[in-house]
Amino acid sequence: MTTITTLPILRTDRLVLRPFEPADAPRLQLLLNDIDVAKQTLSIPHPYPEGAAADWIAKHSEWLAAGKQAIWAITLQGAVVGAMGLRLVASHHRAEAGYWVAREAWGRGVATEALRAVIAHGFEVMGLHRIEAHHYPENPASGRVMEKAGMTREGLLRGVVFRDGVPRDNVAYGILRTDRRP
Ligand SMILES: CC(C)(COP(=O)(O)OP(=O)(O)OC[C@H]1O[C@@H](n2cnc3c(N)ncnc32)[C@H](O)[C@@H]1OP(=O)(O)O)[C@@H](O)C(=O)NCCC(=O)NCCS
Repeated sequence: MTTITTLPILRTDRLVLRPFEPADAPRLQLLLNDIDVAKQTLSIPHPYPEGAAADWIAKHSEWLAAGKQAIWAITLQGAVVGAMGLRLVASHHRAEAGYWVAREAWGRGVATEALRAVIAHGFEVMGLHRIEAHHYPENPASGRVMEKAGMTREGLLRGVVFRDGVPRDNVAYGILRTDRRP
């Protein structure tokens, strides 16, 4: 697996995926203070604490340099509408994708387009062998995104995460580099 020290900009038909910048914090603060976004994630708190967006953005370069996480801002017509990340497990050439899209941009294929771009980048540039993603059973829209991005449903992980102190199931999806059509 290739270690990346600078996050590349990824372009799709409609989106630009780029590193978050400190200047994105106020908008991020606003978009993430949405219970319907937060509740489907592993750890975004609600209400979203003042200053949390700036603190989160400030950690990205350290996480990237340590080979732990690569996080892109999803932008549509210049505006941040979400985030797409890869949690890296370099020793196994594997990553877990995680993402959210702001409510104002739901239902327009944004998450699917961004996930496809990051999967392609993960396999073709970063040299990953496997990319996985998990969603709560109560969030079928995210499962549909994974499916549309070419991932295969691999099973149900019972009680695999604690969210706000409560054990929760996850539906597991995955894709291998060798699953992809040439
Ligand atoms: C889930 C989420 C990422 C989807 O983003 P999006 O940009 O609207 O996704 P897309 O438009 O690319 O695709 C959504 C698909 O889910 C489908 N969908 C929506 N609600 C659904 C539901 N209740 N049941 C099944 N499918 C559903 C849509 O119809 C669409 O599929 P289609 O193209 O076949 O019609 C977004 O709603 C979100 O960020 N939610 C909150 C945070 C979150 O869930 N993050 C992911 C955690 S695993």
